[in-house]
Amino acid sequence: MTIQETVPSAVQAIDRKIVVQKLLSKLEGGSYLEIGVELGQSLLPIQARQKHGVDPNPIVPMRHRIRMFMQNLLSRNKVHLHQMTSDDFFAQRNSILGDSKIDVTLVDGLHTYEQAYRDVLNCLDVLSPNGVIVMHDCNPPSARIAFRARSHSEALKEFPADGDFRWCGDVWKAIVLLRSLHTDLQTFVLDADFGLGIVSRGASTSKLSYSREAIEAMSYEDLAARRTTLLDLRPASSFNEFLASR
Ligand SMILES: C[S@@+](CC[C@H](N)C(=O)[O-])C[C@H]1O[C@@H](n2cnc3c(N)ncnc32)[C@H](O)[C@@H]1O
Repeated sequence: MTIQETVPSAVQAIDRKIVVQKLLSKLEGGSYLEIGVELGQSLLPIQARQKHGVDPNPIVPMRHRIRMFMQNLLSRNKVHLHQMTSDDFFAQRNSILGDSKIDVTLVDGLHTYEQAYRDVLNCLDVLSPNGVIVMHDCNPPSARIAFRARSHSEALKEFPADGDFRWCGDVWKAIVLLRSLHTDLQTFVLDADFGLGIVSRGASTSKLSYSREAIEAMSYEDLAARRTTLLDLRPASSFNEFLASR
C-alpha cells in the first residue's frame, strides 16, 4: 500500500501541481503555460498535450532536458522551455504560440507584485475562454517571507544565514490589485502551498475598492491584520467547489 492510499482523499493536502492538474483534467485542457520554471518541479510532472515553460535562468537538470528532447521526438505531448523573461515571451507570443490558446497557466516567476500582476494580464491575452490562471505564493506567512526585493538573490542576501529561505515577496498585492481594479475577473486565494491565487473570467462577486496608490502603500502588517478580506482567502477544500463550477 502506498502512503497516498492510507490518506483519505478529503484530507489530502493540495499544492500547485495538484490544482493545475485537476484544472487541466476538468477543462479537458491540452495546453499549460508556466511562468518561472526553476528546476522544473512543476513543469516536468504535469501532464498536458502542450507545455510551455518560461524562465530567463531555468536550472532544469541535463537528464530532464534530454528526456524533454526525446519526448518531443517520440510523443504527441510536447514540452517547450523558453529561456527568456515573461515580458519577452509575451512580446513574442504570436510567433511562439500562433493562434493556440492556453488552458491553465501557473504564474510563479519574479515575485514582485508589479511583475505578477503584469504576468496575469498578459496571460489573459493567451488564455482560452474557460481557462484558469493559478498564482503561487500569494499568502506569505511572515514579513520575512513577504520581503520586498527585486530578485530572489536580493532577498536571499537579506537573510544570508537561512539556507532554505522561502521567498513569496509581495505577490499578495497583485491579488488586491486584481480584486480592486478588475470587476470582469473572479479572483480568490486558496489557503494552501503559500497561497494559490485562482483567477478566471467572470463578473467579480467580491470586489474591493482600493486605489492602486492605496495598494502600493500597504505593508505586510496590513495583510496580516486583514488576510481573509484582502485575499478572499478560502480553505483549500473549497477548490472542489470551484472545480465543480467550471
Ligand atoms: C519560485 S521559482 C519557480 C518554481 C516553479 N514554478 C515550481 O513550481 O517548481 C521562480 C523562478 O522564476 C524565474 N524568474 C525570475 N524572473 C523571471 C521573469 N522575469 N520571467 C520569468 N521567470 C522569471 C526564476 O529564474 C526562478 O527560476
